[in-house]
Amino acid sequence: MKDISIIGAGYVGLVTGACLAKLGNKVIVVDKESDKIEKLKKGMVPIYEPGLEEMIAENRRLGRLSFSTSIQEATKATEVIFICVGTPAKPSGEPELSAVEAVSEEIAKAMDGYRLVVEKSTVPARTGEWVKRTIMLNNKEGADFDVASNPEFLREGSAINDFMQPDRIVIGVDSERARNILVELYAPLQAPIIITDINSAELIKHASNSFLALKISYINAVANICELVGADVVKVARGMGLDKRIGKDFLEAGVGYGGSCFPKDLAAFIKMAEDAGYNFELLHVVQQINSSQRALLIRKIKELIWNLKGKRIGILGLSFKPNTDDMREAPSIEIIQKLKEEGAKVAAYDPEAMERAKEILPDIEYCKDAYEVAEKSEVLVLLTEWDEFKNLDMRKIKDLLLKPNLVDGRNLYEPTEMKELGFNYRGIGRK
Ligand SMILES: NC(=O)c1ccc[n+]([C@@H]2O[C@H](COP(=O)([O-])OP(=O)(O)OC[C@H]3O[C@@H](n4cnc5c(N)ncnc54)[C@H](O)[C@@H]3O)[C@@H](O)[C@H]2O)c1
Repeated sequence: MKDISIIGAGYVGLVTGACLAKLGNKVIVVDKESDKIEKLKKGMVPIYEPGLEEMIAENRRLGRLSFSTSIQEATKATEVIFICVGTPAKPSGEPELSAVEAVSEEIAKAMDGYRLVVEKSTVPARTGEWVKRTIMLNNKEGADFDVASNPEFLREGSAINDFMQPDRIVIGVDSERARNILVELYAPLQAPIIITDINSAELIKHASNSFLALKISYINAVANICELVGADVVKVARGMGLDKRIGKDFLEAGVGYGGSCFPKDLAAFIKMAEDAGYNFELLHVVQQINSSQRALLIRKIKELIWNLKGKRIGILGLSFKPNTDDMREAPSIEIIQKLKEEGAKVAAYDPEAMERAKEILPDIEYCKDAYEVAEKSEVLVLLTEWDEFKNLDMRKIKDLLLKPNLVDGRNLYEPTEMKELGFNYRGIGRK
């Protein structure tokens, strides 16, 4: 059992905190937003992540998980401190690391004995050196400390499972003591542990996310070729993905990747490489392909209904992927803004993300379900492949639509079935 602080109560911090508590540790989760902490203290969880609310409740009941706004108190009470604050992209692509710096400084000022400070936020290589320097400068009592990198690979929507059953755990350390603490902490997960230096651990995260984004753009490029030659990208991807060297994950053609990680991590990796003297052209192309998929979807809508002005367009799914309420960099934002610019009337429904979406897209109609979206729409556009949309009564949907137009931005439906039902169906990369 270890005493642990988690700084940053977002998607990563809350999941990490709850899971480490579940493993038997005593965890304090800290955030600077007092509203968020007040809610958490009342048992309310500010994000949607399957299973998280129950896990937080259970561990609070057992006295293993608590919440605070004070980094100082948390640092004094614990030995291992995970930094899980946001690292959003600046316009240049470089990540904003001021929160990492501010937190490191506060931790340093409160240290009264050995502490292990672990970067879990996604940061560029060499950030560990800055964290170390910042702590050294502010560590007035001269307390002993180590810095480690332990990047997080969880996926929103299956975050608890990903944390508890990871493919691997990456630990970047430069001391035996730090290594032993982290290896012991993660031992109950029985996952392969990769131990590296700090720079390599930081780089593993950016290189992994960029590679996954590359896979998505690759299959999207293949989808475009499929359309040109009359092939079906779903079949092509299956044929490729069963090859173990390729793997089937992230080979789904669609409107492209979004979310709080891929776009920003790719931009950060490109910028970091550039600063280090390498022009990562390959990743520039990955970005270009991703943004052209949004434009492709708009083109498909126009192929069906020509002008958009004054027409009602129904959108199914707003979050950047299913099983999350996260709207950060969701493809829906760019697509809906474009439709609005061209004068369309947009009606949308998402099972979990509508509250967050209203802050970003205030001037669209929010509906109670998919059927209300379909009613009197000229075209129905699927942007997020929630399970709920797989099981819709498509006959009813077709009858509710003003015209039976269906643009499937995630290849959720079978083209032949949809055509048999009478839809004018357009998928991505399918005949
Ligand atoms: N979301 C993911 O799926 C995911 C997966 C792997 C890695 N990551 C990385 O983990 C990090 C956190 O991501 P997230 O999605 O949890 O972000 P988030 O925005 O959901 O949460 C970050 C939290 O940090 C808090 N915070 C910011 N500055 C603070 C400060 N000075 N003191 C205390 N709290 C502060 C914010 O209030 C917020 O609650 C990022 O670097 C991200 O790239 C995210």
